[in-house]
Amino acid sequence: MVDSERAAALACRSFLDLFSRKADAVVGLATGSSPTEVYRMLAAYSTLGALPDLSRISAFALDEYVGLPREHPESYHSVLTRQWTIPLGLRTEQLHVPLGNVRDANSGSDFEDELLRFGGVDIQLLGIGSNGHIAFNEPGGRLDSRTRVAQLSEQTRRDNARFFASLDEVPSHCVTQGLATILTARRILLLGFGRQKAPAIAAAFEGPVVPELPASILQLHPDVTVFVDEAAASALSRTTCDLSNKSSDVSLGR
Ligand code: F6R
Repeated sequence: MVDSERAAALACRSFLDLFSRKADAVVGLATGSSPTEVYRMLAAYSTLGALPDLSRISAFALDEYVGLPREHPESYHSVLTRQWTIPLGLRTEQLHVPLGNVRDANSGSDFEDELLRFGGVDIQLLGIGSNGHIAFNEPGGRLDSRTRVAQLSEQTRRDNARFFASLDEVPSHCVTQGLATILTARRILLLGFGRQKAPAIAAAFEGPVVPELPASILQLHPDVTVFVDEAAASALSRTTCDLSNKSSDVSLGR
């Protein structure tokens, strides 16, 4: 199975290939624990001077908390500035994060318009919530959703409390790309590690496509690669593993 380091190396390779063939590439970034090793590896390449010219690339975040000021250390704008913009030597305007300081009806459609204007996402990095959410599309929402303000489930708030001093500080709402928005990405890489992700991974990729398991919508996308470690794959019944290099990825629809 893929450990997080091997998965990060493979995802990192996909980013490097994209950057070297498309100077104005658009990438979609997740926050949380799952992608941090990918960002750390890209930062290491940057330190070595081994990245192509990134001055024309753009990055779009999946989501943002509502109610946290942009400069709050746990706002996704701050997190991605620390993990992506600064280490890769990019300009602030190369990162697009939904505005979390507004609840007005247009903030979601403005973000969608911006995404369209940049030509859509070439590679989207995703994590998966223990309840099967992707971005902050929680179970039970619409499968055709677009970027909007949404409510976080209590499970997601508890899962994310580790980034805050207490559960009370975790925002109750977010602005999130919708499931239909995510499906517009040309290629999707999903990273899932740890036993707590196992039920969601199995239900999402072996079960039916249902609103109760938002990640299941990925079965409808033609180019999704899912990287899971042994613990996260433990509830799958139909995996084939290449154990020769102690790693495998579950490829879907490719
Ligand atoms: C964050 C996001 C979420 C996370 C998910 C998993 O931008 O979109 O869907 O990917 O909550 O989080 P981690 O990776 O911390 O387990």
